[in-house]
Formats: sequence, C-alpha cells, structure tokens
Amino acid sequence: MDIIKITGGRKLYGEVHVQGAKNSVLPILAASLLSKGTCVIHNCPSLSDVTASLAILRHLGCRAKQEGSTVIIDSVDASRFDVPHDLMSEMRSSVIFLGAVLARFHRAELSLPGGCELGPRPIDLHIKAMEALGADFCETAGNISCKADSLNAADINFTLPSVGATENAMIAACAANGTTVITNAAREPEIADLQNFLNAMGAKVKGAGTSTVIVEGVSEFHGCTHTVIPDRIVAATYMSAAVSAGGEIFLRNTEKTHLEAVTDALRQTGADIDCMGDVIHIIASDKPKAIRPVVTRPYPGFATDAQPPVMAAVLKAEGTSVFVENIFENRFRHGDELNRLGADIRIIGRVAAVTGVDMLRGIPVRASDLRGGAALVVAALGAEGETLITDIHHIRRGYDDIVYDLNCLGACAGILKK
Ligand code: EPZ
Repeated sequence: MDIIKITGGRKLYGEVHVQGAKNSVLPILAASLLSKGTCVIHNCPSLSDVTASLAILRHLGCRAKQEGSTVIIDSVDASRFDVPHDLMSEMRSSVIFLGAVLARFHRAELSLPGGCELGPRPIDLHIKAMEALGADFCETAGNISCKADSLNAADINFTLPSVGATENAMIAACAANGTTVITNAAREPEIADLQNFLNAMGAKVKGAGTSTVIVEGVSEFHGCTHTVIPDRIVAATYMSAAVSAGGEIFLRNTEKTHLEAVTDALRQTGADIDCMGDVIHIIASDKPKAIRPVVTRPYPGFATDAQPPVMAAVLKAEGTSVFVENIFENRFRHGDELNRLGADIRIIGRVAAVTGVDMLRGIPVRASDLRGGAALVVAALGAEGETLITDIHHIRRGYDDIVYDLNCLGACAGILKK
C-alpha cells in the first residue's frame, strides 16, 4: 500500500511536461475495437485505467500493448462481445466499451457500472442512444446484454450533454446504416479528439465540439496513428499547485483554449498566467485572494474535474470563495480531509464555502477519489510540515506519475512503501 509523502511550505520552481488526456484516451482505446487493422496511439499516459482498458481489449481478442507513451492495438482478430464483471469493475468508465462492442459485433454483454465515489453513475442516456440505433436491451442481475439485427441511423437528442453517452453514440453510429444526428451532445475537447481518431480510422464524423454531431455510417475501419490531446485536468491540477505553494512554474504540452475557465479563476487569486504556444507560465501571488463563485457546468463551463484542485488552491486565500457543484451529487468528499489539514470549508448540499486560513498543517490524510486525492496533493504543497496521503490508487487512475511531476516543479515529494 504506497503512500505519497509531501513536505510542504516551499515554493515551486520548475517545469513539467503534461501527460496525454485520460478522458480522451479511454474512449479512443474502446473505439479502436472497430478497426480491422492496427491503431498506434501516441501520448498515452501510463494509468491504471489505461491498463484496465487494454485488459478488456485483450479479453475481446485484440492484441494490445503499451510501450512507454505509445499504445499499439491490433483488433483484426477480435471475436468476443462480453466484458466480465471483474474487468468492467476495474474502472469507472468501462461503459465506454458499450458502443464499440455493439458496433463491431451487433451484440454486447457488460456488467453494470457500480456507483462511484462521486455518487450514482446512471447509464440511461447511453442505453437510450443504443436503442435509438436499433439495439434491444435486457438487464439481469447487474448485467446488461443487448443485440441489434442491424444498426440504423437515428436522431439522438440527449436530455443532458453526457460525455460518455455522446462518445458511445458517436462510436456506435459510425457503423450504422445512414446518417445519425446527435443533438445536445457534450462539447468537451475529448469529444473532438475522439472524432479525429474515428475519422483517422475511416469514419465520417463532424461537429464534435458543438452541440450537434453528425455521423455518416461506414462499413470498414482501417488502422491509423493518432496523438492524444494534452490532459487539461492534470494541467489545472499543477496550476493549482503553484497557487497553493507559491512560486513560478512552466507547464509544457498544454492547450490553453481547453483551460480558459480554470485560468480565469486562478488569475483572480492574483497569479500572473501567460500562455505561449503549448506552454503555460504561472507566477503565483505571495498572498492569494479569494475568487468569484466557481459553478461547475458542462464544457465550455468550469470543469467539474477541476473543482477539487482549484478548491485546494484557495484554502489560504484572503476572503471566502464559493464552489457550486452541479454535475455530480457527491463531489465535495475532499472537504473533510482538507479541513483536517486546517482549512475552513463549510458544505451545504452542492455548495461549499471556503474561507481562507493563515496556515495549513501537514498530517496523514486519505484520498477519497481521483480528483479529491489530487486536491489533497495541492493542499499538502501549501501546508507546513509533512503530509502523508494514503489510498493513492485513486490518484494513479488519472495521474501518470504525480510525484515525479511535482519534483520536476521543485516540490519535496516521495512514495513510502508500507
Ligand atoms: C466523464 O464522465 C469523465 N470521465 C469524468 O471525469 C467527468 O467528470 C465527466 O465526464 C463530466 O465532465 C471520462 O471521460 C472517463 P457524464 P461521464 O456522463 O461520461 C449524468 C475524472 O475525474 N448522467 O458527462 O461518466 C451523470 O450522473 C472523471 O476524470 C445521467 O444521468 O460523465 C452526471 O451527473 C470523473 N445518465 C452527469 O450526467 C447517463 O446516462 C454528467 O455525467 C449518463 C450520465
């Protein structure tokens, strides 16, 4: 059981290369199942969720391996359409395989994703989209099985812009007869990255990044090469780390247009943030100020995944900052552990009020979920003394090597083996 040890109270100085986007690579790995050739995917982070996705692809009959930050998948011999519970439960977002398995085999048998630390994770929108394309579902004891005599184009309108449901609909529609129109689609940058990957395989998708995605079905998908976009939430985490600890850092391999809401919020602390090409340069204020209310919304609104690290960035800011979490029911669990570090966070339902304190003190804390764990890391950098963070498997789901990255930024961080 590894533990992250951070000795805080020192400013950050340094630069770090930001990894490829977890939330882009996961749907892309699933979509590679459509190909009858070999897909080479660059800028892939080494994450437990990536490892879990490769295990699912191998179970389905693909050859899949990761060499450094390159993943190579040969799906020509894929033959199975079932994903057993032990593989489905390895990661939260395994439901992203539904559209790809259905598109390839016209059948799919997956176990239902459980709830997760953030609250219930329903998949009703995923199922409605697959049914619109012609799939019949039946649900038994926590498993869903579906089949389609054929997949036919449909008009799919989402009642809310679900990222995963949009991705499943895009992937499945690529193999449907005719042209599918998806409205109220999610607009996250990862959707556009998936579109580019699908089109590199021979699909005909357009409109990703807007609320309307149009997919013209095709019958064959070939191999391709693709480079994953930078991870905007990892970038937001390290920008928050600079505000929390103070100092001056450079982030390389970033896309500033994906970070506008976060950059705007962190500038309100008094930080100087300049974006030059794929580099973000941030000089933190010696005395951060509280920020205007942060309200999480679907993209291009403030990303829910950035809420925990940005909250950790303002724990010592002058004044009170308010956070409203509109996307997930239970995404303030990091608040309790941050208060144990000395923060002053009061939570009522979906609203958290963070009043700045003079000092945080390092103590042993426990990560509750992926981005909540990242928030503990950010806070520890701004705390006096030593913080020990346990349950870091949550953090490893989304951060390739956060300790290495932090030390590149001049932090004093390490892993303790228990
Ligand atoms: C993706 O999850 C991301 N995960 C999440 O990142 C991110 O927080 C989320 O999008 C929102 O941006 C991946 O991309 C792998 P949603 P997803 O479907 O697709 C409700 C991280 O930390 N909903 O957009 O599961 C749902 O309950 C993770 O990297 C339905 O009601 O998110 C939630 O309230 C955490 N029915 C809201 O929509 C459905 O069928 C947004 O969920 C599907 C979703």
